[in-house]
Amino acid sequence: MCATMKLLTLLGTFALVSAFGSPLNTEPRRDYGYINELFQKPIDAEWEAALTYPNVALDKPRLIPRPNVTSFDMWYFDGVNRANINESVTVTFYLATNASIPFRSDSTTSISLDLALTFADGTQNFFQINSAIGGYGWAMIHTMGPGSNSTFTLGAKWASNWDGTEYVVNVEGAEREHRFEGELKLSSAAPARYPCHLASDLTGRNISLEVMPKLGWTNILPDARASAKFTLTNLDLDTQESSEQTIAFENGIGFHDQLWSDRPFPLIAQYWSRGHVRLSPFGNDTGAMWSLVWFHGIDRRGKVHNSAYISASGTSILLDCEKDVVKEKVELLEFQEMDKCVRIKVKLQEEDYLEIDIPKENFVQELTANHYERWSGMAQGTLGEEVELKGAAMFEIMNMSKL
Ligand SMILES: *[C@@H]1O[C@H](CO)[C@@H](O)[C@H](O)[C@H]1NC(C)=O
Ligand SMILES: *[C@@H]1O[C@H](CO)[C@@H](O)[C@H](O)[C@H]1NC(C)=O
Ligand SMILES: *[C@@H]1O[C@H](CO)[C@@H](O)[C@H](O)[C@H]1NC(C)=O
Ligand SMILES: *[C@@H]1O[C@H](CO)[C@@H](O)[C@H](O)[C@H]1NC(C)=O
Ligand SMILES: *[C@@H]1O[C@H](CO)[C@@H](O)[C@H](O)[C@H]1NC(C)=O
Ligand SMILES: *[C@@H]1O[C@H](CO)[C@@H](O)[C@H](O)[C@H]1NC(C)=O
Ligand SMILES: *[C@@H]1O[C@H](CO)[C@@H](O)[C@H](O)[C@H]1NC(C)=O
Repeated sequence: MCATMKLLTLLGTFALVSAFGSPLNTEPRRDYGYINELFQKPIDAEWEAALTYPNVALDKPRLIPRPNVTSFDMWYFDGVNRANINESVTVTFYLATNASIPFRSDSTTSISLDLALTFADGTQNFFQINSAIGGYGWAMIHTMGPGSNSTFTLGAKWASNWDGTEYVVNVEGAEREHRFEGELKLSSAAPARYPCHLASDLTGRNISLEVMPKLGWTNILPDARASAKFTLTNLDLDTQESSEQTIAFENGIGFHDQLWSDRPFPLIAQYWSRGHVRLSPFGNDTGAMWSLVWFHGIDRRGKVHNSAYISASGTSILLDCEKDVVKEKVELLEFQEMDKCVRIKVKLQEEDYLEIDIPKENFVQELTANHYERWSGMAQGTLGEEVELKGAAMFEIMNMSKL
């Protein structure tokens, strides 16, 4: 019971802080356009945000004037069915080349998209869609208030409402013998955040956007209610017969974030895990919802950088980072990868932990053979000593120590 008491105290504190936010000021409308052209000059990256007014655009492009060939800016969306974690949709929009993100192995273009579809029966498909070489292709991103809209020539776009609480991602296209078309809808279930601060934290300070050195992160949807409807049509080239596979779920969990850097991905981290999980009390799906987002990174020097964010039924109760620590001194977030699962332990308060085990159950996507994988799985955990939790998770593991 003591865990619940402490939780209520924390909830009270948060409500007081957020009451200061005035909804009056808004980041003005901005439009960003990109053509598919490799850019070879030095650029600037944004590593700080000023917490001066509430309606700041979280998704806005962070590389100025635009990504060059050794930098990247990417927008990631996922949704997974809680009732069957085999079923998921992952869409990533890139302004990046394969010199900045090595797992984009056949791309020398600067605008591209990944689509991973995993089906209820456990089958899957992954598409990497690149702008055509030779100057064709473009991307537009538009921000106004916290939300954003975009269109990529690749048959994909995302759109949000003004405050960024509702997103719709649409993808339509064809590759070799496949045609795909569908929609992923995400509706906010936890407050937007930067690596170590809530977006609603209006202290007027400048805060860091780096979750580890030279890796920028914003996370406007740390948890979302997700629904998805996708159709994949497969044509058998020999018989010319086609078959259809569909993804359709309503009551899923979703996530959306943005990551960027002014340097190639392998120079930033040798290892990372980033993921999200929604938990509810064991045997009670209508009980309190717990959401955790974690980032655990090990830089090239072997130092650990962690971020942990927990919300309960849509209210933030813990958002904290630890930076530049040696593995033995980690306190906030202990992360362990085993052959078949990951184990996460987050410190809530003295002697009070959220502990979760997530099996590597459904293999969603492999971005680089043996180096970068994404999984979904049914999680089990405990909160404090008494509360048992279970739920669904989507996470990735990248180990580039050998690259
Ligand atoms: C891209 O920009 C970064 C940061 O200014 C710079 O260090 C790097 O050399 C640039 N890359 C190219 C290919 O110009
Ligand atoms: C605060 O961050 C903004 C970018 O959002 C930057 O323009 C400004 O120079 C920063 N201020 C300080 C004092 O660092
Ligand atoms: C990028 O892709 C091009 C063409 O597919 C290939 O020639 C090149 O080696 C790749 N570069 C890297 C760094 O993977
Ligand atoms: C999920 O996929 C696996 C194969 O990877 C399959 O064995 C299992 O039956 C599927 N689960 C459901 C609920 O269909
Ligand atoms: C995105 O476009 C839709 C439809 O035009 C509009 O209602 C919405 O406000 C736009 N979102 C933002 C963040 O500007
Ligand atoms: C499930 O949780 C809700 C909300 O916390 C509570 O009202 C309800 O009584 C719980 N149901 C069971 C069977 O424990
Ligand atoms: C990364 O992979 C290497 C070799 O495959 C392994 O020795 C190392 O322990 C892994 N790193 C982590 C943090 O698990």
